[in-house]
Amino acid sequence: MSKLVLANLKMYQSTKESVDDYINKLKEVKDKFIVFPSTIYLEKFIQNNFTCGVQNASVHNPGPYTSEVSIHSLKNMGIKYVLLGHSEVRQNMAEDDELINRKIKQAINNNLKVILCIGESLEAYNQSQTKIILKSQIEKALKDISEEVIISYEPVWAIGSGKTPTNNEIEDITKYIKSLFDYDVKVLYGGSVSDENINTLNEIPNIDGFLIGKAAIDPSSLMKIIEVAEK
Ligand code: 13P
Repeated sequence: MSKLVLANLKMYQSTKESVDDYINKLKEVKDKFIVFPSTIYLEKFIQNNFTCGVQNASVHNPGPYTSEVSIHSLKNMGIKYVLLGHSEVRQNMAEDDELINRKIKQAINNNLKVILCIGESLEAYNQSQTKIILKSQIEKALKDISEEVIISYEPVWAIGSGKTPTNNEIEDITKYIKSLFDYDVKVLYGGSVSDENINTLNEIPNIDGFLIGKAAIDPSSLMKIIEVAEK
């Protein structure tokens, strides 16, 4: 069954030319993945009919919030998805579960689909605390929310490190996450997914897709990942 492929371009792209080149190279497969570009390049992707999401958004309604981007403006631009709770945002922007919960509500009220990112630190992983951490993140982020979201399991220690959990570990965690929901929640895996390990990761039977960072910057790597995930 074909899986979801999400490309989180983070803050990697920094020239108009590199974005144009990226769009040109991926035009033909644009219907096969969802792209989360830097906010300033969103318009370019939308003009080229890519399905787009954003990497974060403001919790506030439009108003006096210098530097923030409202979900309302994103929705009006044609954005369909929002990543919330990414570990880089939790760390670098000090977002906690309570703020993430409010942002999820704001996104749902504006009909954006939410991808909630969760994951344990290396310390928690080494102490076998993964499930406890994930359950707590899910319960707090989704407090008083019954609408469906997508979960992306991204161990903090696997992001950008070239390391991944074993297939058995990801399968077990995915099963556990699914057991916490009363609907058929989609669970993605993210963290050092590449064109080299995608064949292995794609064998995990219960995973619904992949959230890819660094490898998604290279169009040929992303195309290979898409090709495998389609099988
Ligand atoms: P990498 O694929 O670079 O490890 O990043 C994963 C990620 O953070 C996706 O959101």
